[in-house]
Amino acid sequence: MKILVTGGTGYIGSHTVVELQQSGHEVVIVDNLSNSYASVVDQIEKITGIRPAFESFDLADPKKTLDFFDRHRDLGGVIHFAAYKAVGESMTEPLKYYHNNLSSLINILKGMQKAGVTNLVFSSSCTVYGQPDVLPVTESAPIKEAWSPYGHTKQISEKIIENTSRVNEINGILLRYFNPIGAHESALIGELPIGIPNNLVPFITQTAIGLRDKLRVFGDDYDTPDGTAIRDYIHVVDLAKAHVVAIDRMLKGKNKKQVEIFNLGTGKGFSVLDVIHSFEKVSAQKLNYEIVARRPGDVEKVWADTRFANEVLGWNAGKSLDDMMLSAWNWELALKKAKA
Ligand code: NAD
Ligand code: WQD
Repeated sequence: MKILVTGGTGYIGSHTVVELQQSGHEVVIVDNLSNSYASVVDQIEKITGIRPAFESFDLADPKKTLDFFDRHRDLGGVIHFAAYKAVGESMTEPLKYYHNNLSSLINILKGMQKAGVTNLVFSSSCTVYGQPDVLPVTESAPIKEAWSPYGHTKQISEKIIENTSRVNEINGILLRYFNPIGAHESALIGELPIGIPNNLVPFITQTAIGLRDKLRVFGDDYDTPDGTAIRDYIHVVDLAKAHVVAIDRMLKGKNKKQVEIFNLGTGKGFSVLDVIHSFEKVSAQKLNYEIVARRPGDVEKVWADTRFANEVLGWNAGKSLDDMMLSAWNWELALKKAKA
């Protein structure tokens, strides 16, 4: 089936396009390249031998988005990644986030309705849970007040899809990602943070390669075994594969409800120091780091209850933390080689 992948030149989108193509789907990417590069299309072609169709425009533009759906009436479904995702920036520029993330979704839903496309996979986030009261966190845990406008856009987007599906023929699968890290084993695609990375793993690899002076570990006074914060890190390729399962589930009419929600994580929590030690082991590099104060807004610990996704989707995240860190390091090395 032909699948629209919005944000398909981005980090998670590009890995998903590879998995979709390798599963026999035809892909059309829409991305305005606000946080990615057109050359990613070449890299996808190198991995899969198939060049995905690619159109560059802003999905927050209603006219262009509706025109796209007019021209693509043969879509089997949409996987919607396109959004802004920098939590810190969303605090200082909230309207930029509300406008981009919500307008794009609304335009896509209108386009789907017009073109009779019924299946939507949406990128949600564990950020909707805030600091859960019970760990591991299940899909039925309460949605806490969002700390950032970015997180709020994910909560609102989930509601927009749920409410739309009540009146329109839309099936939705909302995937709540935990912390995606790592890169494709080919080291041809991976995360390309623009400027100074906010996230832990690109900061580690950029420090080890000499682009950053040192990593600051935000807090060692949390109520965790080593005092540093715990997250559920998931390999981006495992995450990408779950999208193929999700879209196939709706294409085959196997979904049990019009909107289904799944946690995508490994179900295991690792501390910041665990991640650093895994990196040092697989890369044989000593990382320069120091402990500093907690980062405002960070939750202490969160990891997923993945049983629902494992049982219902028949999907499992198979890759270990060492696999994730090695692939992230190989990607950083490949970027350095490409620049040389
Ligand atoms: P990314 O920035 O690498 O990819 C998003 C892509 O969307 C980019 O290529 C960008 O150019 C494009 N885009 C943004 N706004 C657009 C618009 N209006 N029109 C067309 N294209 C647009 O981000 P990612 O890490 O791949 O994240 C993908 C999705 O997953 C996002 O919705 C993000 O919020 C969500 N998510 C990411 C994480 C994470 O840690 N990476 C965790 C949870 C959820
Ligand atoms: C992980 C851990 C930091 C950087 C973010 C978003 C979330 C979701 C995933 C989209 C934390 C620590 C980090 C550094 C550090 N994205 N850290 N030094 O904050 O769990 O989640 O990405 O939906 O919404 O908030 O990920 O990689 O920034 O941090 O010590 O330089 O690493 O304090 O404990 P986070 P992260």
